[in-house]
Amino acid sequence: MSENKETDCLCFYVNGKKVTENNADPETMLLSYLRERLRLTGTKYGCGGGGCGACTVMVSRYQPGTKTILHYSANACLLPVCQLQGAAVTTVEGIGNTRTRVHPVQERIAKAHGSQCGFCTPGMVMSMYTLLRNKPQPNMEDITVALGGNLCRCTGYRPIVDGCKTFSPESNCCQANGNGAGCCVNGDSPPERSENRYLYPDNPPLFSTQLMAEMEPQVSQLFRGERMVWVSPVSLEELIQLKTSHPQAPLVMGNTNIGPDIKFKGAWHPIIISPTRVQELFEVTKTLQGVCFGAGCSLSVVKALLEGLVQEIPEEKTEIYRSLLQQLGNLGGQQIRNVASIGGNIVSAYPNSDLNPVFAAGNCTLNVVSKRGRREILLNKDFFVGFGKTSLKPDEIVLSVFIPVSRQGEFMRAFRQAPRKENALATVTTGMRVMFIEGSSVVKELSIYYGGVGPCTVSATKTCAAVIGRKWDEQTLSEAYTQLLDEISLSPSHPGGQVEFRRSLTLSLLFKFNLQMLHKLWEMVWTGSLFAPIEGVSSAIRPLPKQLQPSLQEFQAVVKGQSGDDPVGRPIMHRSAISQATGEAVYCDDIPKMDGELHLVLVTSTRPHAKILDIDISEALRVPGVVDVITSKDIPGKNINYVHKCYCQVSCVGHMVCAVVADNRKQAKRGAALVKIAYEDLPGPVFTVEEAIEKQSFFLPQRMIERGNVDEAFDKVDHIYEGEIRLGGQEHFYMETQSMVVVPSGEERELKVYLSCQHPTYAQESIAETLGIPSNRVSCHVKRVGGAFGGKVTKTSIIACITSVAAWKTGRAVRCVLERGEDMLITGARHPVLGKHKVGFMNDGRIIAADLHYYANSGNTADESLLVIEKILLHLDNAYNVPNLRGRSVACKTNLPSNTAFRGFGVPQSMLVTENMINDFLFPEQIREINMYKEVSLTHYKFEFDPKNLLRCWDECKEKSDYGSRRKSVAQFNQQNRWKKRGMATIPIKFDIFSVRVSVRQAASLVHIYKDGSVLVSHGGTEMGQGIHTKMQQVASRELHIPASLIHITETDTSAVPNTCPSAASFGTDANGMAVKDACEILYQRLEPVRKQNPEGTWQTWVTSAFIQRISLSATGYYRGHDLYMDWEKQEGQPYAYFTYGACCSEVEVDCLTGDYRTVRTDIVMDIGRSINPSVDIGQIEGAFIQGLGLYTLEELKFSPSGVLYTRGPSQYKIPAVCDIPLQFNVYLLSGSDNPHAIYSSKGIGEPVLFLGSSVFFAIKDAVAAARVEAGMVGTFTLNSPATPERTCLACNTPFTQKVRRCHQPVSIHSLPQPIMLDPNPSMFANLNMEFSYCFHLTDLQT
Ligand SMILES: Cc1cc2nc3c(=O)[nH]c(=O)nc-3n(C[C@H](O)[C@H](O)[C@H](O)COP(=O)(O)OP(=O)(O)OC[C@H]3O[C@@H](n4cnc5c(N)ncnc54)[C@H](O)[C@@H]3O)c2cc1C
Ligand code: FES
Ligand code: FES
Repeated sequence: MSENKETDCLCFYVNGKKVTENNADPETMLLSYLRERLRLTGTKYGCGGGGCGACTVMVSRYQPGTKTILHYSANACLLPVCQLQGAAVTTVEGIGNTRTRVHPVQERIAKAHGSQCGFCTPGMVMSMYTLLRNKPQPNMEDITVALGGNLCRCTGYRPIVDGCKTFSPESNCCQANGNGAGCCVNGDSPPERSENRYLYPDNPPLFSTQLMAEMEPQVSQLFRGERMVWVSPVSLEELIQLKTSHPQAPLVMGNTNIGPDIKFKGAWHPIIISPTRVQELFEVTKTLQGVCFGAGCSLSVVKALLEGLVQEIPEEKTEIYRSLLQQLGNLGGQQIRNVASIGGNIVSAYPNSDLNPVFAAGNCTLNVVSKRGRREILLNKDFFVGFGKTSLKPDEIVLSVFIPVSRQGEFMRAFRQAPRKENALATVTTGMRVMFIEGSSVVKELSIYYGGVGPCTVSATKTCAAVIGRKWDEQTLSEAYTQLLDEISLSPSHPGGQVEFRRSLTLSLLFKFNLQMLHKLWEMVWTGSLFAPIEGVSSAIRPLPKQLQPSLQEFQAVVKGQSGDDPVGRPIMHRSAISQATGEAVYCDDIPKMDGELHLVLVTSTRPHAKILDIDISEALRVPGVVDVITSKDIPGKNINYVHKCYCQVSCVGHMVCAVVADNRKQAKRGAALVKIAYEDLPGPVFTVEEAIEKQSFFLPQRMIERGNVDEAFDKVDHIYEGEIRLGGQEHFYMETQSMVVVPSGEERELKVYLSCQHPTYAQESIAETLGIPSNRVSCHVKRVGGAFGGKVTKTSIIACITSVAAWKTGRAVRCVLERGEDMLITGARHPVLGKHKVGFMNDGRIIAADLHYYANSGNTADESLLVIEKILLHLDNAYNVPNLRGRSVACKTNLPSNTAFRGFGVPQSMLVTENMINDFLFPEQIREINMYKEVSLTHYKFEFDPKNLLRCWDECKEKSDYGSRRKSVAQFNQQNRWKKRGMATIPIKFDIFSVRVSVRQAASLVHIYKDGSVLVSHGGTEMGQGIHTKMQQVASRELHIPASLIHITETDTSAVPNTCPSAASFGTDANGMAVKDACEILYQRLEPVRKQNPEGTWQTWVTSAFIQRISLSATGYYRGHDLYMDWEKQEGQPYAYFTYGACCSEVEVDCLTGDYRTVRTDIVMDIGRSINPSVDIGQIEGAFIQGLGLYTLEELKFSPSGVLYTRGPSQYKIPAVCDIPLQFNVYLLSGSDNPHAIYSSKGIGEPVLFLGSSVFFAIKDAVAAARVEAGMVGTFTLNSPATPERTCLACNTPFTQKVRRCHQPVSIHSLPQPIMLDPNPSMFANLNMEFSYCFHLTDLQT
């Protein structure tokens, strides 16, 4: 690169403002640049690896070739700032705000109730905004595709989609205001369908002509960082020169492979070459022979051009194009496809790349250039030589990729099966191409490539050879399956496990191809012959349905005569929804950096069970910027086992050992990586419940409860049946990771702690104890929490203690924000449970006796496990009156990270075992009805209740879902479809609202009325998205008889409202609502004299008079809670005030060949009394249901045989995405229900519905049962949870899974690493290879 043409000045635009950066750091991504440098904190960190979409921004670039501007959404966390030369970035702040004008996208998502905790909202907004920039009139598919790369853990997506839908001509109304109440945009002028609608005059221009001018002439750039040099050439010649001089330097295009490698695997490149401005890499040439894409073209550009081509040229020429489109539709999320380059995808050579099998089978070629000249390479098996390796020479550059048109008689298909339908790397992916001799069914050419079945893209060469020259018929294909099985024989320790499933998929995907080709041959060759289209073709080939249907949300209207000013009972929007949607809402890590602030990074154990011999911090302390290393020796007060003592033990991988504090996070991270811990491994780590049972490794006490006499009853029943089920754990995956800032005030040993947690008082007390100071010196502040779900009760406090010790020792503010991988590793999850049942029943279906055992895997500390196992037992009856019922539960102590509270707190595990027991009956819905509580009854702990509303929910659910006739349709569907099966299940729930500990059932509030009439409310609940502040505003409004707009709810602050209780157990509104009501009642009564003096006065005049008359305008409120108890000795009690009831019916369609499924419809009827805010409550219902659907069908924690958690980010751990929502999702709130035990007759709702996600699990099981009947298998079978595609497919027992099982070589157990049996399928855990998943933390590699 010639010196005179080079510049080190970076220039780009952010929200219309020019940014000039003279010292751009090659390691800085746009996300941290926006948040830390430009203080634009609306763009959020959720994962840092391109998997969650929280950091979505819009990038606009001028395209000199077409003289147009390309707008695309991108993940700021993977976008190097150095790559932004000449770009315009638009963030959520750039499109609208509450000070000037809110953008329609922000407004409509908010008004449709699509923002709960709000942490995902800016990302959602930006994805939708970008779509509208490019397509002002999107259809529903456009919307779901645009949102496909964005995760939300709270809402269940339906309201977000509804908000976005208002922009589509396909829909006129989102129905967000409830049935019949009209669209959320009512009152607005109808949405204009012009692009300008989305560009307000006060918005910055999206791409200024000034910037276009600055792009000319283009000069090379060179940026020197601390550890890396970034070179950005502008001509091919320069690029070749650079690559010749630095053959090992990567060419960074989309950075979607290199970025995660640097971030998660600690890869380091001294020089990075960024050829994104080399025009030759973006040229596209169309010829009669095919299309040639510049290697730098993004996958979105490739997709768009191919979509155009398949419209333009004759269909028979587009076989390869259509196969590529098939894969591109599901590859990554939209943001990934927008930046990932076609060349990068090929050269990355992922073993499960979606495109490479198609390129290889499709005879595509690469044009490659180097100093030695140009050459053409056929993309075949010789090109892919190993994991991430190709036959390219280090100095070679891929210039372009040539994709030929298909020839006469040539057909191609591509298939993939992934853990989630979209935005997930495939388990197995394939490209298959066949060419027939003209006019016959004889195979001339056959090419089959797979991904996911080896270290690289693999060719089934022998199988193809065995078929070529023969007729494409049953006999040939039958031999081909056998050959294929032999050829693609995965070793039991195959990276990623799932060996049986992968092998089965290779066969079933070939079968799908076979059927499609038979159909083609029938059209082409056998037309008019006696051959009929092959039976079952359509059900094997037809994709699962994906068209979203309008959904209903029905709730009770407010009582007749209720004042229009009284907001209680009305669907009021979440009070922060708009500021969340504009990015103005402040989360913990959005708090500006304090003067002298330090950052803390935790150092955790890499051993599951070991003695710490030594901690050497010397190297860490030498890292520039590192200020100190905090160990247990620094704890001035009590070490409540937070930081492990030196020379002490660690008991899980991820156990916190010490912490490094430095001037910034990067330095602290570097320091943490250099802390050397010497371990002495201790024998016999325990990972599974079986091992715990064998070694009697339990937390005590164990619990038992019995009604009637179970043993005697078993002697009298007609039948006895035994079974078991396992339920895996569940990661909370709150979108905002654990975050806190601890600020020492500098005098009187005071500390202010800003944190994202559910229980600020617990944090306050723990910090005070750790520091040895009284609680009155520590104030904890929670403005809002970006999702918690139980994971921010105990765990946050532990980390806050460590951060406080660091702040205490250094005297400086310390910030700790966990990265996603750290958070998942350290903070534990929902308890996995093994449940066993023995049930005794009569011929008429009455269950007379049931004996249930629960073993919960608690991990290495008790945390809340003992309460969890108690709750398990209190709920084992669910909705059923079993006269002789016994339950035993035990918390197993293992060497895994300590599990903790999670929405439902043991109930989702408990009831799954019960419902599974019932589901094994032939007609489970009837058995449910026969055994359901029918009249005022006693539970198994002798608590009297009336199940009337439970039965009403059940009946209404059956009626609203049209259960009877749909059951018949399902049966008919199953008769007509060999390879797709439908299943249905209806599940009831009876869920208590309580908190086990009596002391945490109280609440307090503080209400101030200011002289201007405005009101400030503080209470003990924390806002986590559940809408508690909105409901408190409604309560205060009703009690003070003033509009809600006069009321402000301030942050939760332990110095304003002391001794708060956790916001958990669906109890927040019940308790805090009563406390706020109490304070407001006191104030309203105090104002009575002034009201009487001036009955015609206004609120304002009364307040003024009250002040003049020296009436106190401030009051505290208190709620004592119910007097509840549970006596485990006597096995009786009244642990709850009331039950929330509900029922849910789900229908699914399962692809038996792949195990993939789609929820076709879900109907939920919930009794939540008189809802204080139906839209907030429906939001809780939908969100909890989708979280339950994730628990039971999708989310899977994977551990290594030595206890290392593998699933540490959205790339490995799949929570439901927009593609997982039921196609039709109806929610009905039971009418005419009252509840004397809670405020305004409402009921708690945060937790109960999660269990109803199991209706999808049981519907899948129902469909699997139908598939098994076809395979000649009747009777009960075990399907463990989650019912992933793997388990579902294997349970269907198709001829292909049978074939795999028959040929499965028995392997000596000693030759295998011992799997952790949190899950029943050993293959899943068999030596999950680090290399295979590319998003692992450095510490993994050391283990
Ligand atoms: C969240 C996420 C989800 C994903 N999901 C999928 C999926 O479902 N299916 C799938 O197949 N893939 C998936 N991927 C992988 C993704 O498609 C690839 O990472 C991407 O295509 C690589 O392109 P890039 O431009 O980002 O490469 P970069 O990261 O920029 O570079 C990758 C490698 O390619 C080399 N390279 C790039 N261009 C050239 C060139 N012109 N000549 C020579 N070498 C070159 C670089 O030197 C580097 O070694 C996913 C990735 C992420 C982060
Ligand atoms: S933070 Fe960027 S995608 Fe998750
Ligand atoms: S609202 Fe989407 S993550 Fe909370």
